[in-house]
Amino acid sequence: MIAHLRHFSRLAGRGHSRLASSASTSYLIDQPEYGFLKELGLEINNPGVYSGQWQGRGPTITSYDPGTGQAIATVRQGTVQELQQAIGLGVEAYKQWRQVPAPVRGEIVRQIGDELRKYKEPLGKLVSLEVGKIYSEGQGEVQEFIDICDYAVGLSRIYSGQLINSERADHTILEAWRPLGLVGVISAYNFPNAVFGWNAAIALTTGNSVLWKGAPSTPLVSVATTKIVAEVLRRNNLPPVVTLCQGGTDVGQSLVSDKRVNLVSFTGSCKTGQDVGVEVQRRFGKVILELGGNNALIIDSSANLKMALDAALFGCIGTSGQRCTTTRRIIVHEQLHDQFVTSLVAKYKHLIPKIGHQLDGQTLVGPVHTQQNVDSYKTAIEEAKALGGTVAFGGKVLERSGYYVEPTVITGLPHDASVVHRETFAPIVYVLKAKSVDEAISWNNEVEQGLSSAIFTENISQAFKWIGARGSDCGIVNINTTTNGAEIGGAFGGEKATGGGRESGSDAWKQYCKRATITVNHSGELACAQGVVFNVE
Ligand code: UN1
Repeated sequence: MIAHLRHFSRLAGRGHSRLASSASTSYLIDQPEYGFLKELGLEINNPGVYSGQWQGRGPTITSYDPGTGQAIATVRQGTVQELQQAIGLGVEAYKQWRQVPAPVRGEIVRQIGDELRKYKEPLGKLVSLEVGKIYSEGQGEVQEFIDICDYAVGLSRIYSGQLINSERADHTILEAWRPLGLVGVISAYNFPNAVFGWNAAIALTTGNSVLWKGAPSTPLVSVATTKIVAEVLRRNNLPPVVTLCQGGTDVGQSLVSDKRVNLVSFTGSCKTGQDVGVEVQRRFGKVILELGGNNALIIDSSANLKMALDAALFGCIGTSGQRCTTTRRIIVHEQLHDQFVTSLVAKYKHLIPKIGHQLDGQTLVGPVHTQQNVDSYKTAIEEAKALGGTVAFGGKVLERSGYYVEPTVITGLPHDASVVHRETFAPIVYVLKAKSVDEAISWNNEVEQGLSSAIFTENISQAFKWIGARGSDCGIVNINTTTNGAEIGGAFGGEKATGGGRESGSDAWKQYCKRATITVNHSGELACAQGVVFNVE
């Protein structure tokens, strides 16, 4: 039916997982220094489906630490049948949940935020361990979930429609926002906790139930996070307004094509997102797509170079280049180009001793997530060299267990080289030399994706050009700060092949609702709009 979705093991994922192997494997969860996993209620073998109770009758997969290649623990995924059951229960739960006053729903979300606060340390550590991101970024990810809960609590008391003037006497037009029903969330490996959080906090507050399928290669974060949410639901005697079904291709396809899932919020690759979008549209479902980016950082001749260098460092190397907002291109004014590259390379050199295991306190550059990331890193570097690019720094895979690559700077490529236009989920940045801000803006906009972008400038005219109609065509348009690391208060997402969806703050909540336009006639007589006369005596 949807044969082109056959890469569904990558559906929620820019990663991959492996089926559990031998019974004699030793698991990190058994070692005393990984006691935090047990604090989260995890065991060696965990059920990966929650629909009021825990189960999982599908294949068992092993979750690995990308920093060592060692097995952490295993998860029993769901079957299509279990997914169907979760959908049915989610729909039933919605029917009760929509009756609960919004501020009372907000109170439940507040409790979820508080429960997350209790578990922030171990949950953040698990995020780090399973994804490969460093300690502070794992903690920061859970913080994003907590922050969006706070946001949602406030939202629950203020989100509202409007009252519109009618052209007819004694008529009033109202606009109301109603929940959609069941919201399916398919999240990616690189933000296995926060992306679910942004969607779930807002979807729940606006009266929807939520069914989550996390990435196949980060199933432990899905299970641990759902346990925290489930405890709040249990304490409040609520039906399963949040359900989880970890699974493979078949489960993903079923979720996407099921009419009972009113909205599918998908985070992942552009290719898979496009397939998901078409499939959901085929059944007139709603979709939020938050897909890839090819984000540029523009350095104008007036830029504060110190700040721009710091932004480049976190933008290009943070999360080992695996955020959809990662800086993938730096477009530098020709006057500053050579000086900028020299200073950037000097900074990169200081990072070499900081490459290490993601949970080591000294580490700033952790591993990439899987061998697949290492392979695409190698392919991109070979292609860049073949196209005439110069590796100004890095370019090598580190010979040690785990998936470690050197953060890499490539110069000398044309702005429209194939490799520059492709998103490679690894810490590689292409530095391009531009003649003017106008040229830099046109290069910023020429890629397929339109997620994030930033300019460093002290020139007010350039700054306003950048944020105006002739400026960046991205969803995120920053000045003097990084392309990555957006806060939850704004709407998050982008244009073009990034999918057009918006999550998190601002009025992104409207995407989780249907709009009712309500005309109330309180005149005592029937009157048609536009002066139409239509009656018989
Ligand atoms: C993602 O990479 O899918 O703006 C999300 C950021 C984070 C979210 C990234 N707040 O980098």
